[in-house]
Amino acid sequence: MAGTPTRTAAEYVPRDADLATLKKAAAECRGCDLYRDATQTVFGEGRQRARVLLLGEQPGDQEDRQGQPFVGPAGRILDRALEDAGIDRTLAYVTNAVKHFKFTRAERGKRRLHKTPSRFEILACRPWLVAELRLLEPEVLVCLGATAAKAIFGPSFKITEQRGVPLPAPRLDDVADGTGTDHPRPTVVASIHPSAVLRAKEDRDAVYDGLVADLKTAAQRLG
Ligand code: URA
Ligand code: SF4
Repeated sequence: MAGTPTRTAAEYVPRDADLATLKKAAAECRGCDLYRDATQTVFGEGRQRARVLLLGEQPGDQEDRQGQPFVGPAGRILDRALEDAGIDRTLAYVTNAVKHFKFTRAERGKRRLHKTPSRFEILACRPWLVAELRLLEPEVLVCLGATAAKAIFGPSFKITEQRGVPLPAPRLDDVADGTGTDHPRPTVVASIHPSAVLRAKEDRDAVYDGLVADLKTAAQRLG
């Protein structure tokens, strides 16, 4: 099919696995080329019974080194925003649309610069996300930024138009066996990525407040 990556993670995803088994299998994933230059797979983290799933883009430099999602500068913004929105991070499950760090090297020096994952990499990695969603069956899914929202709704999703509005999740077909349709679908709230707060200049407080407002909308859906 046009627009479908030739390789995906599907063949690496074990059937009927628990979270620990999924994570172990993801460490061996070669579903796209991003594993080559990254240090390790950064799988999702949190409890299997989490009611809210927080979805980022991909691990950053710190996450790549430490092997955990959102433990760098963006993670610190996220932690603060979650606290201000009344969401306990330890009760959430945190993961990324793409599980390996994509970067380029700065021309001089060794600094690794974040590169936005392509549509194909998002699609290639999606079987892991679908497996996480099917296993956790969260009530609420928060998409942090455009990449996360596109991983759920497809490439034409516009974060600027639909952020902060609770939306029903589309059908999350499992690429491998297509049996995902009978699973309950979460309410999705899309927001900006926490790193947009770090990039903001004089409007930083307003950008941060917007993130917190969207997280509060998500928290309300938890009842
Ligand atoms: N940005 C993300 O999208 N995810 C992380 O885990 C860290 C930074
Ligand atoms: Fe596999 Fe995703 Fe890593 Fe690509 S980015 S190798 S699909 S885990």
